[in-house]
Amino acid sequence: MPNNLFRRKTIESILQDAYNKSADTEAHGLKRVLSLRDLTFFGIAAIIGAGSFSALGPAIYNGGPGVSVLFVLCGIACAFTALCYSDFASRIPVAGSAYTYAYASLGEIVAWIIGWALLMEYAIGNVYVAFSWSDYFTSLLSRLHIHLPEYLTCSYSEASGSARPDLLRAWETAPQIGGLRLIVDLPALVINALITWLVYIGIRESRNFSNVMVIMKLSIIALILLITGYLIFHNGLTYNWTPPNAAGEHHFFPNQFSGVMKAVSGVFFAYIGFDAVSILAEESKNPQRDLPRGMILSLVICTVIYILLSLALTGVVPYDRFMNVNDPLAFIFEPQNLNIGWMQFLVAVCAVIAMSSVMLVMQMGQPRIWMSMSRDGLMPAAFQKIHPKYKTPHIATLMTGLVVGSMIVLSNSQFVLDFTSTGTLFAFVIVCAGVLFLPRREKTPGQFHMPYWNGKYVYPLLVLAGFSAFAVFNPEALLSHVPTLLFWLICGALAVMAFLKNLSVIPLLGLTSCLYLLTGIRESNWKWFFIWFGVGLVVYGVGRIRRG
Ligand code: ALA
Repeated sequence: MPNNLFRRKTIESILQDAYNKSADTEAHGLKRVLSLRDLTFFGIAAIIGAGSFSALGPAIYNGGPGVSVLFVLCGIACAFTALCYSDFASRIPVAGSAYTYAYASLGEIVAWIIGWALLMEYAIGNVYVAFSWSDYFTSLLSRLHIHLPEYLTCSYSEASGSARPDLLRAWETAPQIGGLRLIVDLPALVINALITWLVYIGIRESRNFSNVMVIMKLSIIALILLITGYLIFHNGLTYNWTPPNAAGEHHFFPNQFSGVMKAVSGVFFAYIGFDAVSILAEESKNPQRDLPRGMILSLVICTVIYILLSLALTGVVPYDRFMNVNDPLAFIFEPQNLNIGWMQFLVAVCAVIAMSSVMLVMQMGQPRIWMSMSRDGLMPAAFQKIHPKYKTPHIATLMTGLVVGSMIVLSNSQFVLDFTSTGTLFAFVIVCAGVLFLPRREKTPGQFHMPYWNGKYVYPLLVLAGFSAFAVFNPEALLSHVPTLLFWLICGALAVMAFLKNLSVIPLLGLTSCLYLLTGIRESNWKWFFIWFGVGLVVYGVGRIRRG
């Protein structure tokens, strides 16, 4: 292989590496135990968690009932991306997901960047989930009259300089060691250690645990939807869907569409995880057929649930009461709202379960990506070692636990939420772009094939129509918001390429919708994003020099 930054791996050599040129169908000793149902459950396990149980509160406060439209938009962006993932997954059924796909389509350096971005999605995303898990767990304990000191239930950076009463108390009461205050989110650290252990001991155990958790969380969500649906229609609360805006007019978007777009990080976070299914390629019984189906099925189910949940919550409680509410599903049952005490308790139990299942799947994903990167020499060789007894990439698993644990100590929840959503959207953009570079292939029965629709005329027309509508309804964003301006410039360039090269419509739309969602990311977050990528490139450069 030529030694350059853009060298690609052929699909044949990726498959050969994964299956070690042996007749054995079990790649590197991973066990093939997962069926379509397991994969769909894994998808749901990874998707429904902190995004809906925590981040939905601030999202509703920003966007009002109209946030349900953002769920539709994010669902559409993820659906296009899922089709791209599916196309890749059926061509390259090995663990490694977007990282491996980028290596095959765009070359080593882009693959590295994706691997680096996926660290934001899986490991750092899990930090947010661990923080949210801890919030619900602590409130569950306090309902049982067990109270942990505040300095053991929040992060140091959250407490430092905060005026919020509980955080202030944490700061003032924390014991000090050599002038440093001992403030750490202990439940978040403990759940991280437990999940790491579970992933370490094996996929079969993890699967059983995850399936039970999914059934429980779906049941409780169904109950929430039934109760709220009944109350909305029985008590005639539908007027909450058109609350007054600043001018006193009743509107589905009380803070306009820009308010809705402020919720992008939280809403998009709620969808993260469907792609984790593709990481289980080497552990699924029929990856070329089942991975695409599992991904798409779980995504469709969760999109429907999210739209219903956002309408249910904004129907039973006016949206502007969700200010600073980080447990929205329990909040609606509090005494000042619906006042159903037993539901508050059930939801808290369910949240703890739901978030454990997300952590489990994400914590399984990260080591498997590192395992693939290690096979290519981009990560230490130890990361591809499989435990002789448990058949899991144990060293990479432990390392993931350490990274998540360190970030729990060093960061805070708002930061990791924004950071994860940006990194994941970026990874999705590259996956969709990667599909455009793949050669078309013959249909093989039993394998997923993404339909090819020529975008020569359709895509430029769509861009033109979208731009015209945008210019009419939101002209100031075009002039004052740099990411939006950049977005339309990139769309223009893509339209020219689609016309010249007959590019396929689905990946183009995936690319476009993910890029559009990126325009909603806060500007302060871009700084961290670029620093992160700068660090990633330095690490890559040092690695290359060491490899010679
Ligand atoms: N989508 C996952 C969650 O909401 C990451 O927790």
